[in-house]
Amino acid sequence: MFSHVQGQFPHTRFRRVRKSAATRALVRENTLGVGDLIWPVFVCDGDGVEDPVASMPGVMRRSVDKIVEAASEAFDLGIPAICLFPYTDPALKTEDCAEAWNPNNLSNRATRAIKKAVPDIAVMTDVALDPYNINGHDGFVEGGVIVNDKTVEALVKQALSQAEAGADIIGPSDMMDGRIGALRTALEREGHSNVLLMSYAAKYASGFYGPFRDAVGASGALKGDKTTYQMDPANSDEALRLVARDLSEGADMVMVKPGMPYLDICRRVKDSFGAPTYAYQVSGEYAMLQAAFQNGWLDADKVMMESLLTFKRAGCDGILTYFAPAAARKLAKA
Ligand code: PBG
Repeated sequence: MFSHVQGQFPHTRFRRVRKSAATRALVRENTLGVGDLIWPVFVCDGDGVEDPVASMPGVMRRSVDKIVEAASEAFDLGIPAICLFPYTDPALKTEDCAEAWNPNNLSNRATRAIKKAVPDIAVMTDVALDPYNINGHDGFVEGGVIVNDKTVEALVKQALSQAEAGADIIGPSDMMDGRIGALRTALEREGHSNVLLMSYAAKYASGFYGPFRDAVGASGALKGDKTTYQMDPANSDEALRLVARDLSEGADMVMVKPGMPYLDICRRVKDSFGAPTYAYQVSGEYAMLQAAFQNGWLDADKVMMESLLTFKRAGCDGILTYFAPAAARKLAKA
């Protein structure tokens, strides 16, 4: 790209700037900071519960009291935000998904408890019907079809209940059309003008979500796949059109998901819009890395930090990652 302004060897030697830690620090283009991390956590019923998720070593489902402890530890580490995903009692899953907007559902109880105990950590919540849906889908299913507009009406009720509970950032992960505009209008109307929307704008129909579906107990429930609403992994231009649409409807931040296999999308989104851009290093990416760490095939600390830095290099402003506390601890020591 700039080869015309570069001297020839030996006037130019790239190894000169790499010769010491000091010179490498001076020419470093990107850095990972604790302020870049958002920590996704799983909430379950009960008291004093920390239930390990088999396919995600080191990740636990926590009852509300334990989530509050985790949020407090995260805040002390400097992590700016925690993102809640509920493991819903199968008995509460229905076709009408009414538990999604119950003011006292697990997610809303956890939000209230965290905001009371650790008011300065940002709480992000998930908008989608899958934890509450007997079919496991993010939208209502009618005659085998995932219906859009009726789902959006339900998502509005769900998001308003989350805003009422004190959510700072609402993350619609459902991929229905028109939901950002509908959510923004409703939030404004109901006096929640300062609630942020982080749109899962370019969310792909990916195989990398498997362990997450185990963690929230959705694997068994899911009938079919999500290809009629999540994106085709073959597409890239479409991601830009989705991001443009969601920004125009009132999204404050946009997300690409999964993360590492979609870094090209992150870069295109950042370059095209210059908007706050995030990536979700999803459960399958985490599981894959942990499996290699556990076998001693990869160096855990090194590869964890490298994997997170790639997102900064690709233009992301932050990363949702299950590694958040481990990475924060490592950054604190560095
Ligand atoms: C569902 C949702 C999913 C994830 C976040 N929200 C799974 C899915 O779309 O099936 C995946 C996160 C992960 O894999 O870590 N609304």
